[in-house]
Amino acid sequence: MSVTTADFLEKKKRGEKITVLTAYDYLTAKIVDSAGVDAILVGDSLGMVALGYKNTIPVTLEEMIHHTKAVVRGRKNAMVIFDMPFLSYQTGIRDAVLNAGKALKETGCDAVKIEGGVEQAETIKALVDAGIPVMGHIGLQPQSVNVYGGYKLRGKGKEREKVIADAKAVEEAGAFAVVLEKIPAELAREITEMLKIPTIGIGAGKYCDGQVLVFHDMVGLFEDFKPRFVKRYAELGKLAREAVEAFIREVREGKFPGEEHSY
Ligand code: KIV
Repeated sequence: MSVTTADFLEKKKRGEKITVLTAYDYLTAKIVDSAGVDAILVGDSLGMVALGYKNTIPVTLEEMIHHTKAVVRGRKNAMVIFDMPFLSYQTGIRDAVLNAGKALKETGCDAVKIEGGVEQAETIKALVDAGIPVMGHIGLQPQSVNVYGGYKLRGKGKEREKVIADAKAVEEAGAFAVVLEKIPAELAREITEMLKIPTIGIGAGKYCDGQVLVFHDMVGLFEDFKPRFVKRYAELGKLAREAVEAFIREVREGKFPGEEHSY
């Protein structure tokens, strides 16, 4: 039995931190699952990290389904959360239910995530009523990058009240957890204390009930840029390049393959 939405709520009650990492393929899912993470998010960040798009806008439902199937094959214990891509839910409640339902049926994932607070509350309620667990996502919402003109900190000044209203709306609509992205730590603390459902922070400071990072960021594989909120726990990009350079050198020098690699 994998981690459930009830486990998320129990963890918050017990004051146990929740850990979430992204994965887009079988191998990465196996690594993060066997290390003991609570949930694997198949984030639409796959558009930038795995597919080389400049943002998350072009990601399709079919691409998300393809990658999520591989992740589900690689997990044993972690909850798998499917990130609903741009225009798979913003076009109406019926579309949202059909697309999220398709994701659940075809991939075997456990829950979906959608961006948006007050504006998406009715959609979240409809999904939950249809039996689809929903993780909310408020604060910085990367699918709205073109409206906001970038990835700046959200929830400062007048925007503070809006983020608080979004948090309340997402909880009231029935979400089992909510991602708080790139908001001041003190605002995240207030929201975390206010809500019964767990808050999962990314760039939202240490008071959240849990933390999420993009796997390729935290192991140093994605090197195009590094947001301030990312901590690199390893430099796998550098290690992989060094390994490739060694392979090229040894092949050119006739050192590889050796006797032990030959039949
Ligand atoms: O797409 C993603 O990886 C995300 C996380 C950064 C929360 O939405």
